[in-house]
Amino acid sequence: MGTISIDTHTNGFQTAQDRLQELKAFDETKTGVKGLVEAGVESLPKIFIRPPDELLEESKTPCVQLELPVIDLSGIDEKDRYSEIVKEVLKAAEEWGFFQVVNHGVPLEILDKMIEGIRLFYEQDDYVKKQFYSRDFTKQVTFLSSFDLYTSRAANWRDTLAVQTLHADLDPQKLPPMCRDVMLVYIDHVLKLADNLLELVSVALGLRPDYLKEMECSKGWSLVNHYYPACPEPELTLGASKHTDPAFLTILLQDHIGGLQVLHKNQWVDVRPLRGAFIVNIGDMLQIISNDKLKSVHHRVTANSVGPRISTAFLLKGRLSSPRLYGPIAELLSENDKPPVYTEFTLREFASSFYSRPLDEPGLGYYKVRNNGDGK
Ligand code: OGA
Ligand code: NI
Repeated sequence: MGTISIDTHTNGFQTAQDRLQELKAFDETKTGVKGLVEAGVESLPKIFIRPPDELLEESKTPCVQLELPVIDLSGIDEKDRYSEIVKEVLKAAEEWGFFQVVNHGVPLEILDKMIEGIRLFYEQDDYVKKQFYSRDFTKQVTFLSSFDLYTSRAANWRDTLAVQTLHADLDPQKLPPMCRDVMLVYIDHVLKLADNLLELVSVALGLRPDYLKEMECSKGWSLVNHYYPACPEPELTLGASKHTDPAFLTILLQDHIGGLQVLHKNQWVDVRPLRGAFIVNIGDMLQIISNDKLKSVHHRVTANSVGPRISTAFLLKGRLSSPRLYGPIAELLSENDKPPVYTEFTLREFASSFYSRPLDEPGLGYYKVRNNGDGK
């Protein structure tokens, strides 16, 4: 692999040019953060250090001991239970933008095997893994570190294996062999759960049960499989910057380590691992089409002194080639008291604006209806 010429923070000030060089050097290793850890870094390379204003702000944002709502999906086929679940989904989606689901129908064994499959991908020989390393997002399968490496203020302490069907159906042969079978089974199960959740959300919004499915919200998706190595100086960086998801809905599975936090009433709330549960959150697109009824909420992942932590997020995004215009759903608007908050856009427009900005910059504002003519 050669020596890694990445500075650590003891050397003082870093110019933009130095930073760019270090980002490139890091990117070119093609072994991600895990590669740095294996090369023995003992202090945080500068490219990962959060800017001083953020670190200062950090000390002012309290963390509170609250629990995300947990929704038990058992008995969903019984009429009374179904209405109860719909109510719980609506409440959680309005108040938190996040909830956990248990008894969701996906066997525990498949969840465990998926996490292990992801681990196998990361823990295999660098030589094989490097062949997947790429920032070409038209590829169906890519391995990389920090999607926004060159635009963000600080790189994230995590690596990602991303699988996406935004352009075409999945070609299984493109999946890494050591986790191919388990991923295919996992995707099958999660897609079924996704359809159930889209139905619950449709009904919660007062729409026909098949409304969101017919909008093709689950037709294209990204499955992002994250690996967060143990970090030598976790207080100086993040596993994932604060962000909202560029999706309709996200279905996340995390292992037992923890680190995910949700911004609730301006306080960070830890999403403590709950074995067998999926974490579900409303994404930007669902906030837009629900005309702000449901909330796409900020979340992030702290870096941790223990690890690795593994998680896998399934983001329902739709197909980018769809000619359909997405915007606030007509049935949810009324001329007098519920005017549309957002304009309409295609999914391709949405995706390109997402990839041109750092993860921690909000994307929703871009589509806001503005009456004063001051922007897009
Ligand atoms: C994401 C995400 C959280 C996690 O992939 O969008 O928020 O726990 N992941 O890895
Ligand atoms: Ni997210």
